Order: sequence, then C-alpha cells, then structure tokens
Amino acid sequence: MNLDRKSFLRQLGLGAMGLAAGGTAAGAADLPAFSDRDPERFWAAVRAQYLLTPGFSYLNTGGLGPAAGPVLDVYEKTSRHLQEKSETGHALFTQARTVLARFLGAEVSEISFVRNATEGNGIVAAGLALKAGDEVIFDSHAHPGGAFPWINQHKQRGVVVRTFEPDVTDAAGNLARIAALITPRTRVVQVSHVTAPTGIVMPAAAIAKLCHERGIWFHIDGAQSAGMFPFELRALGCDSFATSGHKWIGGPHETGVLFIRREKLDAVAPVMVGAYSTDQGDLSLELPYVNGTVRHEYGTRNAAAVVALAAAAETQERIGRARIAARGRALAARVRTGLARLPDLEILTPANAEINASILTFRSPRIAYDKLFERLLTDHRLRCRPVSEQQLNAVRVSLHLCNGPDECDRLVEAMAAILKKT
Ligand SMILES: Cc1ncc(COP(=O)(O)O)c(C=O)c1O
Repeated sequence: MNLDRKSFLRQLGLGAMGLAAGGTAAGAADLPAFSDRDPERFWAAVRAQYLLTPGFSYLNTGGLGPAAGPVLDVYEKTSRHLQEKSETGHALFTQARTVLARFLGAEVSEISFVRNATEGNGIVAAGLALKAGDEVIFDSHAHPGGAFPWINQHKQRGVVVRTFEPDVTDAAGNLARIAALITPRTRVVQVSHVTAPTGIVMPAAAIAKLCHERGIWFHIDGAQSAGMFPFELRALGCDSFATSGHKWIGGPHETGVLFIRREKLDAVAPVMVGAYSTDQGDLSLELPYVNGTVRHEYGTRNAAAVVALAAAAETQERIGRARIAARGRALAARVRTGLARLPDLEILTPANAEINASILTFRSPRIAYDKLFERLLTDHRLRCRPVSEQQLNAVRVSLHLCNGPDECDRLVEAMAAILKKT
C-alpha cells in the first residue's frame, strides 16, 4: 500500500489542521485575531501553546527552538498513524517540500530535507569540487556546524580556510572584510546569516552579488535566520543555504532543510545516495540523479518530523512572519534598554538595527560568563546560552514568539540582582 497525502490526512482527521494546501496551520486556528490595541492577548495565546514549564523562561531558541503543542500533535498523530500500517510516509514529503519552498522563497525542486543545519552545510562542503589550495572564506563566529565541514575539507583535501571577524559597525563593514580576503583562489564564501554568538545579521544579498561577480560559490548557514525573519532565497541570490528546522521555525528535533539553486544543482556532487536520489530501478552504472536538490535525500526517513516541520512553518505564516520578526526585535530591544541602565554591563550585539535582530548577547567583567549563565538558570529560572566562542565569555538570549515582555523584565531584574551581589 502506498498512502498518498490526501487519504492519509483524511484518515488522520488533519484536513482542518492545514497540512493540506490552503488549510489552517497547526494550532493557528485556535489563536485570537491579532489586534494592535491588545497585541499581548494574541501573544499570550501563542505562548500558551508551548509545553514550557510555567515560571521557567526559555530564552534559547537559537540553541534549540521549542515546538508548539499543536506541532507536536501533528508529529505524534502522524507518527502513530504511519505505525498503524507500518508505512514510511515518504509520499508526505511532497507537500512538506512545497510548504518549505514557499517559506524560504525557493522553488520546490530546490529543497531537500536533512537532519540538521550541520548536515546541509556538510553536503555542500563535501560535494563541491574543491582542490588543494582552493580557498574558502567564512566568519570566525561560525558555529562548529558551519565551520567544521570546511575545516574537514582542509583536512581531507588541503582546502585553505580563511576567516574574517564579523564587523560590529554595519553591513558595509562585513562586505568589506569579505572582499579583502578574496584572492584568485577563492572558491567559496560562507556566512552565518545570523551569527550564533552575538546575533549579527550578515548582508546576504550584497555578499551574493560580490561573489557572483567573481564566480565564487556563496553558501549561507541559515541555522539562526530561518523563522527569525522572512527572506526569499532566490531573491537573496545565494547558491546554497542550509538551516535547522528545530530552532526558529519551531519544528521537531532533527529536522533541517538544504537549498541548492536550480541552476547550480550539478555543482554539488551527492555524497550519500540511495533510494530517492535516483529513479534508476536496476543496477546499471549510469545512476542519473533525480532533477532536484531532493537527490541528497536517501533511505528511510522520519516523515512525521518533516510533516510537523511543515506544520510549524505554516503556523508562522498564519501568525505573520513579519509580525514574528518584529516581535523578536521588540523583545530584544526591551532587554537592551533594560540592561543598558545597569553598571558594568557590556552588550556585544551591535545596536545598529541594520545588523541585529532577535538575539542579544552581553557580559559583565564582574562575573564569569559560565557562572552568570548558571546563576540565571538556577537562581532565576532563566534559560539563556553561555557564549564561550572566540573568548567572548558572554551570555546570549534569543527572543521569539514563545517569549514575552515579562520575561525580558525578569531577565533585567535578575541581572540587576546578580550584579548587585558580585
Ligand atoms: C549558525 C549555526 N550553524 C549551525 C548550527 C548547528 O545546527 P544543527 O544542530 O541544526 O546542525 C547552529 C546551532 O546553533 C548554528 O547556530
């Protein structure tokens, strides 16, 4: 039996939950209409959908985003339903791909589902035809999941790695730092769309232009951007892009998306292939890859997770992606304003709105970052993220649709109390 999506959804009773095109996204139907006069009523209803323990503030979406209850319902129901007839549910990927293509501003054929951002970055790093001496540029704030795939190419193939420290002044500064590192041997530029340690937003479209004028591949590690704010990959002009589904999009754990621009598809040699990478039904030696980034998918997968990721993306669309981005920004700005009044506190995330968004990173010479992280967690029930990268010795908060102004104020009060005692 091959369960198609429509009959599957009918059996699941999920038509009204919006997994079918044009339906209502998971849980979004239960939300009140957004009103400018009382936005907190709306956001309180959004927050109520999460399973997060009351009184515990989760400020680490950049590490791992919580999935809302209705998204988890989709995951569990899909999983159980597939188990009833022990189906893989692979046909369900098709609609999910349509949703994620729309969400990321890509064509359907440009999207493949991976397990996490690291896997997507690794497919591109390992698949490009790089030789010893070819140069790759990326930011020194890259997460290990963005940096190690390239350092591995250094180890395996002698690729030369060059890094630039993100500029905290403006977008032009970051563009200039990349341009200054480009040589005739530069083959790839990668940036963290939003840097993990301090939340700096890179000027992706301008970098794409710079790279394409020079025939350089441009890959974006978008683990921190997809779901934080809206953008269109085709319009941005990158050649490839990888993201986690389990951070800002709010999908289940172990979900991710890889985009490779249609025109550049063949430049990334598949590293792993199997069923679904090709339509070939026999053992002949041609192995023509399917015509799409889907060629990088292979073998049995967790269809329930992919379906729930699509439900999470649809939920954000229903809530309003610009609205979510503005919410994260406003909350980060509220924390910034509060922290700015405290003594001995340095905010590392740039104040320039051109290069910041929903992440805020800060530190104090009065207390070590790991102790500060611990105090915030154990004494104040505020789950932040310690930032040890590049000796920044700071603490990071991520503000998303599951957070509210009360949590921002609690954080500021907690910081005031901690600094008073140290
Ligand atoms: C910029 C960046 N890239 C990659 C990753 C790794 O993500 P994943 O665990 O989905 O591979 C992270 C995780 O925090 C990140 O911030």
